[in-house]
Amino acid sequence: MTETAVIFASKLGSTKKAAYYIAEELGADVFDLKDQSIIDLSRFGRVIFGSGIYGGKPNKLIVSFVQHNRGQLEGRKVGLFLCCAFRDEEAATQCERVSKELGIADAVFFSGIRKQLRKGDMPGVDEYISRIKGSV
Ligand SMILES: Cc1cc2nc3c(=O)[nH]c(=O)nc-3n(C[C@H](O)[C@H](O)[C@H](O)COP(=O)(O)O)c2cc1C
Repeated sequence: MTETAVIFASKLGSTKKAAYYIAEELGADVFDLKDQSIIDLSRFGRVIFGSGIYGGKPNKLIVSFVQHNRGQLEGRKVGLFLCCAFRDEEAATQCERVSKELGIADAVFFSGIRKQLRKGDMPGVDEYISRIKGSV
């Protein structure tokens, strides 16, 4: 099975909750960029990044990690989830912009997940997990 790393940066806690939930469901290793900025990705076939959005921008720790690890990311499946307050069209436009900025095509957003992240409560997150589980 593909080994997965979930790498996140969170200021207010929602991305952290989502990251741990996704990692648990996928049996993935989870890394908080606040604690660790150097990560050896060699054993991971898949890397999923998670970030909050602030003033339309992703967390600087994610931007910096992605910029400094382009070589390591090459040849691996890379995904991105964004935790944000915006919803619907506005959130989709924001997500598309951040996806391009980071050079990560497979990007999704989860709106307003702060307090309610429990199994079954978060259709967006659960669908995302199901999609990842379903891809080789
Ligand atoms: C200063 C600030 C700016 C924000 N700007 C945006 C924004 O531009 N777009 C958006 O959708 N959400 C915005 N939000 C909401 C956060 O993206 C949302 O609370 C997210 O869950 C934060 O992730 P975190 O809890 O992992 O830090 C902002 C929140 C703060 C505190």
